[in-house]
Amino acid sequence: MCGIVGYIGSKEAFPILIKGLKRLEYRGYDSAGVALLNNKGELNVYKTKGKVKSLEAYCNHKDTTGTIGIAHTRWATHGEPNDKNAHPHYSQSESIALIHNGIIENYLSIKKLLIREGYTFKSDTDTEVLVQAIEYIKSRYDLSLFDAVKRTLKFVIGAYAIGVIEKNNPNCIIAARKGSPLIIGIGEGEFFLGSDATPIIEYTSDVVYLNDEEVVKLERGKKIEVNNLNDEAVHHDIITIKLELCDIEKAGYPHFMLKEIFEQSRSLAMCMNGRLNMELKEIKLSGIINHIDKFRDAKRIIITACGTSWHAGLIGKYLFEEFCRIPVDIEVASEFRYRDPVINKGDILIPISQSGETADTLAAMDLAKSQGAFIYGICNVVGSSIARGTDSGTYTHAGPEIGVASTKAFTTQVTVLIMMAVSIGRELGTLCESRYKQIVGELSNITTKIEETFMLASEIERISSVFTYARNFMYLGRGYNYPVALEGALKLKEISYIHAEGYPAAEMKHGPIALIDEEMPIVVVSPKLKIYDKVVSNVQEIKARKGKIIAIVTKGDVDIKKMADFCIEIPDTEECLTPLLTVIPLQFLSYYIARIKGRDVDQPRNLAKSVTVE
Ligand code: G6P
Repeated sequence: MCGIVGYIGSKEAFPILIKGLKRLEYRGYDSAGVALLNNKGELNVYKTKGKVKSLEAYCNHKDTTGTIGIAHTRWATHGEPNDKNAHPHYSQSESIALIHNGIIENYLSIKKLLIREGYTFKSDTDTEVLVQAIEYIKSRYDLSLFDAVKRTLKFVIGAYAIGVIEKNNPNCIIAARKGSPLIIGIGEGEFFLGSDATPIIEYTSDVVYLNDEEVVKLERGKKIEVNNLNDEAVHHDIITIKLELCDIEKAGYPHFMLKEIFEQSRSLAMCMNGRLNMELKEIKLSGIINHIDKFRDAKRIIITACGTSWHAGLIGKYLFEEFCRIPVDIEVASEFRYRDPVINKGDILIPISQSGETADTLAAMDLAKSQGAFIYGICNVVGSSIARGTDSGTYTHAGPEIGVASTKAFTTQVTVLIMMAVSIGRELGTLCESRYKQIVGELSNITTKIEETFMLASEIERISSVFTYARNFMYLGRGYNYPVALEGALKLKEISYIHAEGYPAAEMKHGPIALIDEEMPIVVVSPKLKIYDKVVSNVQEIKARKGKIIAIVTKGDVDIKKMADFCIEIPDTEECLTPLLTVIPLQFLSYYIARIKGRDVDQPRNLAKSVTVE
C-alpha cells in the first residue's frame, strides 16, 4: 500500500527520494509522485500514474533540485489511479504539498465546509481535502505549519501517515501518524521519513517510531521535536535498527519471491536461534516463560490475522488444541473486529502479522485489548504497530519480506506457533516429556529437510510448464495440511491470476467434485498423516473422475503415487511439522507457473504487501 519517503538535509533530495520509492515498490502501488522545494523558493510537484520508472522519466528535464522533499507511491482508495489523484497534493494556493497513507473517513464533511469557504478541488481524493484543510486552518488562525497540522488533525477521523512541506519554509518537514506506519530516520544533520525502514537504512540505522496522534517537526540544524495533538511535547528514545542493505536486495535472484523461498532454511534457523537448544532438546521462549500463568489460566485462545498469516493461524489451532488442550478460535481480523465478539477475562488473543501494520489485525487487537484479553503477538517487523501494542509476544525474525506473495513469513510464523504450543503443552502437562523431546528433536533437523525440499525446484518447474493452460486449480489437504492447501491456492491466485480454491479433502464431495474433469488440476497435499488412508480414498474419488493429480507426498509413498499424474516427494517428518515442508513445493509451483505466464511475480496486480487500510 501507499509508500512515504521524505528527506531534509544537505544532499540533493530527488535521488534519495526516487531510490526510497523504489525500495518501497514491493508494497504495491499504482502511481507515484514527488514534491521538492528548490533554492529559488519554488515548490515543484511532479506526479504520474504508473511505476516509479515512469515518474523518473517524467521528471527528466524538469527542475528536480532541492535539499528538501517528500515522495509517495499511491495505492488507490478514493478515486481511480491517475495523474490527478496521485500524491503529493497541493493546497489551494499551491504553497503547501502533502503526501498521505491511510483514509480520512470524514473527508466529505470537511470538503463541504471548505467548498463553502471558496476552496476548489482538482482530485477525487480524501488527501487533497486534508492539505486544503491545513492551509485553511493555518491562514484562519495565523499558525505555523506545525501548529496548523496539529489543529487540523484534531478534526480528522480515520487513519493517516503524512508528510507536509511548505513553500515559505524551506527548513522543515512536518509529519504525523495515526494508524498508518511511519518511521523517522535520524542522520548527521539530516532527517528521513519512511513508511518502513527500507528507504532509510542505506543512510542511517537510528530511527524514531512515532505513536498514534503524534506530529513531528524535522528542522534543519535542530533536534527532532515531537508533539501530541494537544501541543504537549513527547520524548522518544532513538532506536538502532538491525537491518542490512543486502537483506532488501535481490542478491542475483530474478525475483524477491524466489530469493525468499530459498531463504527459508536460514530464516527458520534465525527464528529458532537462541530459542531452541539442539543438544538439550529444549525450547525457551521468553514471552512464554514470563507469562506461563496466563496460558495456564486461559479458557480460550483466539487467533486473528489476515491472508497468509491467517493460514498460519489455522495451523496454530491444530497445534494448541493437540498439545495444550486449550480451545482455539481462529478468525480473519476484518470479521472479528466488526462482529461484536464475546471476549472473556482470561482469553488470550494472538494476532499474527508479518508487517505488524495490517489495519484489520491492528484494530482486532485493540478491540480485544480494550475488553481485557491478554495479547500475545507474532510479528516479523520489529517495532511495528502490532508488535508495540501487544502485552508480550515472539518475533519471527524472518528478515525483510519484499515479495508480495508471502513465503518465509508463513514458515517462520508456523515455526513460532510450533515452539509456543509444545512449550506451553509441556508446562501444562498436556504434552508428555518423551513426545516433547521427539518433536523438538525433529524441529532441530527441519532446516536440513527444508534444504532437501529445495532440490525439487527444477522438477516442479517442469511440472509447472504443463499446467499453464489451466484456468482453475483445486488444492486439497487434511488436518495440518488443510491450511497448507488454502495457502497453496492463495499463492497461485495471487501471482499467476489463475483461479484456485483450497478445500479440506473430504469436503470435496459436497460441491467442488462437480468441477472435476480431465482438464482440472488438483493438488493433493498428502504427506504421511494419521488419516492417510482417508486421503487415499479422496484421491481415488478424483481419479475416478479423471482429474489431473499433482500429489505432495512423503518419500517412499506407495498408494497415492500410483494414482497421481505427478508426484512430489518431501522428506519424512513429524505430522505437526509437515506444513513447513509441504508448503515449499506449492510456493515453487505458483512461482514457476506465474513466471512462465510472464506475470509480475513480485508486484502482482492490485495487491499490496502491507494492507494499511481496512
Ligand atoms: C496482504 C499481503 C499478504 C499478507 C496479508 C496479511 O494481503 O499481500 O501476503 O499475508 O496482507 O499481512 P500481514 O503483514 O498482517 O501478515
